[in-house]
Amino acid sequence: MPTRRQFIRVIGIGGAVAALGAGGLSWAGSRGEMPASAIAPWQGPGNSLTDPRLRAAAVAMLAPSPHNIQPWMIRLVGDDSLTLHVDLSRLLPETDPPGRQILIGQGTFLELFRLAAASEGWRAELVLLPEGPFPDDRLDERPVAAVRMMRDESLRPDPLFAYHRNRRSNKEPFDTERPVSDVDLTSIAANADNGMRFVTTQDPAQRQTLRDLAEKALILEVETPRTMQESIDLMRIGPSEVAANPDGIDLLGPMIWWGSKLGMVSKEDIQTPGTQSYQVGIDMVKGQTQTAMAFGWLVTPDNSRLSQLTAGMTYLHLNLAATRAGVAMHPMSQLLQEYPEMTEMQQTLLAELDVAAPAHVQMLVRFGHGVNPGPSPRRQVRDIVRG
Ligand SMILES: Cc1cc2nc3c(=O)[nH]c(=O)nc-3n(C[C@H](O)[C@H](O)[C@H](O)COP(=O)(O)O)c2cc1C
Repeated sequence: MPTRRQFIRVIGIGGAVAALGAGGLSWAGSRGEMPASAIAPWQGPGNSLTDPRLRAAAVAMLAPSPHNIQPWMIRLVGDDSLTLHVDLSRLLPETDPPGRQILIGQGTFLELFRLAAASEGWRAELVLLPEGPFPDDRLDERPVAAVRMMRDESLRPDPLFAYHRNRRSNKEPFDTERPVSDVDLTSIAANADNGMRFVTTQDPAQRQTLRDLAEKALILEVETPRTMQESIDLMRIGPSEVAANPDGIDLLGPMIWWGSKLGMVSKEDIQTPGTQSYQVGIDMVKGQTQTAMAFGWLVTPDNSRLSQLTAGMTYLHLNLAATRAGVAMHPMSQLLQEYPEMTEMQQTLLAELDVAAPAHVQMLVRFGHGVNPGPSPRRQVRDIVRG
């Protein structure tokens, strides 16, 4: 089964690139790499950034968000406060109609903000949804949180904060010879709090059921034109597109570089059934789902806006705990998405997981061990600050 990198290679390869022969290909090895500017934020805020709010926000931008859409906007208030808002130009209306995943992505940001502030001796006092919750079906301009910074010399960094720069959503196939230990799964799951449950399984029969369901759901997303188009619109193909827009789905590698130079990599190809790129994409889906060595799911007592937000805060801890345990973690959200074509599969999933309303599954992830994909692109903190 192809890895994500091989998929990227094949999208870009085409006959002409292959015909360049070994010399051409090895020269191509120096092309198509991640532009340094796109991952510079992972170095941490430099000393020139002195406002503690902006320092914490710069770190919080390393948080995971669906499709790496980075849906954050902050307004500085007075000298010591800020409000966090959803950037309403960064939504996923096809795969996330109510904005539930976007709100989870606000929770990951807020929690990493809090940990980053604490690591520098600032207590970030959070008031969640200070002007009331969003409606169930859409997000709006109201604040997700109001944040006030208070100096507190007694604060010590949270031990999980040490792992924030190595945290990844690992989309590579996992090693099917390497199970995940129960001890590691238990240590990760122990981070679910606030009335939430994080349930894991590596029971072979249930795992296979979940692998197959996740695979079907991913294929449905690919084969539903409007949901696939949403991903395609967020693809950044090759280093210059990634550097210009350090967000979304980055497709890099030497073959992408060649393919785009030769006009052979196009978003249309990836979307067109029958093309090699499309088929390899489907095979990549199998490479992810069928190598899941364990699954985990985060269940909140209800599906309120507050629960979605706090699920994101808890998810950040789970992801950092997996990093600490050396276990690769990868969200697989398709089955949880609220568009009509997915409803039936979602019901099958919920029956399998034995979760019924009002309880709600907010995140579904696979675990295993795989190649570390390296950091994903991020914008700069100044890009999310509004006057
Ligand atoms: C709510 C949420 C849902 C996500 N769903 C998926 C998913 O279905 N598939 C996937 O590959 N990654 C998913 N991710 C991971 C993001 O793609 C990832 O965070 C982003 O690309 C940035 O990469 P990083 O986490 O390695 O920094 C999700 C993340 C969040 C917060």
